[in-house]
Amino acid sequence: MLAELSAKLCAQIQGAATILRTAQRVCILTGAGVSAESGIPTFRDKQTGLWAHYNAEDLASIDGFAREPELVWAWYQWRRELVHDKTPNPAHYALARWQEHITLSHSAQQLTLITQNVDDLHEQAGSTVTHLHGHLNRNRCSQCDTPYNAPIVSTAHQVDFGVALLNCDHCGSYIRPDIVWFGEALPVDAWQTAEDAAANCDVFISIGTSSMVYPAAGLAHLAQQNGATLIEINPNPTSNTVVDITLAAAAGVVMPALLQGIITSSPPSKD
Ligand code: APR
Repeated sequence: MLAELSAKLCAQIQGAATILRTAQRVCILTGAGVSAESGIPTFRDKQTGLWAHYNAEDLASIDGFAREPELVWAWYQWRRELVHDKTPNPAHYALARWQEHITLSHSAQQLTLITQNVDDLHEQAGSTVTHLHGHLNRNRCSQCDTPYNAPIVSTAHQVDFGVALLNCDHCGSYIRPDIVWFGEALPVDAWQTAEDAAANCDVFISIGTSSMVYPAAGLAHLAQQNGATLIEINPNPTSNTVVDITLAAAAGVVMPALLQGIITSSPPSKD
């Protein structure tokens, strides 16, 4: 895997590791790209199969659910089916090991991990993480917000649009995924955690996000306004964030090398 590290990328990673070794407060924001190497399509990857003709942003919306709740519910059932057997990749494990290293070494460094993702791969890898956009494997009532904890029978590999919708035990309204849809506010506590961490960090790292969706995309700007160094890990560097260091490679390749540089202060090995 590390063989993909060119001399230039190695040097850039080493530079970033040198900064991160002494940074007191680090804020990390991950997006769909951090789960790409686990086999989960990113949010703006072209939709495939039965969903090829649907726009994800239409489906992940209050209006979409109000218009066609069966369709939206079936899409989330399909996404759950897609994600249920996926496992963390080296990027998730490197982030979890970094958090573990801080704890075990009694380091004064503070690392806050924030994700836009709704999968639980950070948790599976052992990370403590704050979700800005909710959780794919959780459900709640679309009206009274009561959590719906009964196990959901996931549909078979094909999508069943006519699937029976579930109703809330308390008010009878439809059950919906516990996910933040376009046009909805982010969870207050999660956003407060993210804003505090971004506003007070020395280094802000964005990993695998197109930085297109606000308010999450605004965290990098908030960090920069407060003097933080910005690092971006993305094979396709984004144009709408001004970063100080771009590590233009896959997160699963960069993160283990970056962690090695932070923990052992030795340069990332190229092979
Ligand atoms: N490593 C790092 N980055 C990667 C990798 C990888 N292996 N593969 C792809 N990427 C990058 C892509 O270049 C892209 O910039 O990940 C980014 C994924 O962008 P999006 O699909 O837009 O996903 P994201 O940025 O997480 O979307 C943000 O928008 O639609 C909402 O709620 C949804 O949480 C989502 C939010």
